[in-house]
Amino acid sequence: MIGFIPKLLLALVESSAGPEAVAEVKRRAGIAEDRHYRLNEICEDRQWRSLFAAACQTLRLEPARAEEIFADYFMQDVTRRFPEWFRMCRTAREFLERQPRIHNAFFQGILSPEQREKMRDKFTLEADQQDLIVHYRSDNQLCRLYEILARKVFEHFGERGAVEQERCTHRGDTECVIRIRFLGKAGANDHDSRNSTCDGREVAASRRADR
Ligand code: HEM
Repeated sequence: MIGFIPKLLLALVESSAGPEAVAEVKRRAGIAEDRHYRLNEICEDRQWRSLFAAACQTLRLEPARAEEIFADYFMQDVTRRFPEWFRMCRTAREFLERQPRIHNAFFQGILSPEQREKMRDKFTLEADQQDLIVHYRSDNQLCRLYEILARKVFEHFGERGAVEQERCTHRGDTECVIRIRFLGKAGANDHDSRNSTCDGREVAASRRADR
């Protein structure tokens, strides 16, 4: 995994519970206290998983809740840090179709071609006129994070959308398959579009974005 993601996770831990909590997360994860993560470096996927589990323990959060909080923090960060990637897209669909390419941009220059291939394999997109079908394969099993972020992309663009997981590695499937349907501009009363997540919970899918 690119260092940007653990870097953000530790920044979130620090902003919500202070530097001692960051030290505790590293200790629990078996990571040196002076280890800092940078945008342009690789962190082993296994190390990310240890960090995330340690962050959940330290902040006393269920992983699903931690992913929701992390998704919020992540979107706030990337919309500020990389506004041009949002500006260059007119719709949620354009952005979500571009997302694997945004990820790949991070791999340029820091990974060998073989490593890049492996990273690229995490996301493959299939598109038809109506839907975008995302195939996600990763030992990190962050499909819930994907779903939450996809909904936030809809909010950002002031659109409605349905995000539904058809297959999921948490249920024993070999990959996660997420179907995304684009339902047009959100109206003032669009607060109740609902979708189910892979673990059966219902989550409000879209709200009007006043941007
Ligand atoms: C400007 C916006 C974004 C930036 C800069 C960004 C950047 C990144 C980077 C650098 C990674 C680490 C990739 C790796 O090492 O494998 C990552 C992981 C991830 N991103 Fe994004 N991302 C963005 C938007 C999104 C959106 C909109 C979604 C979902 C709709 C998303 C879903 C994910 C997921 C699920 C992972 C974890 C992949 C894994 O390791 O299994 N990202 N992101």
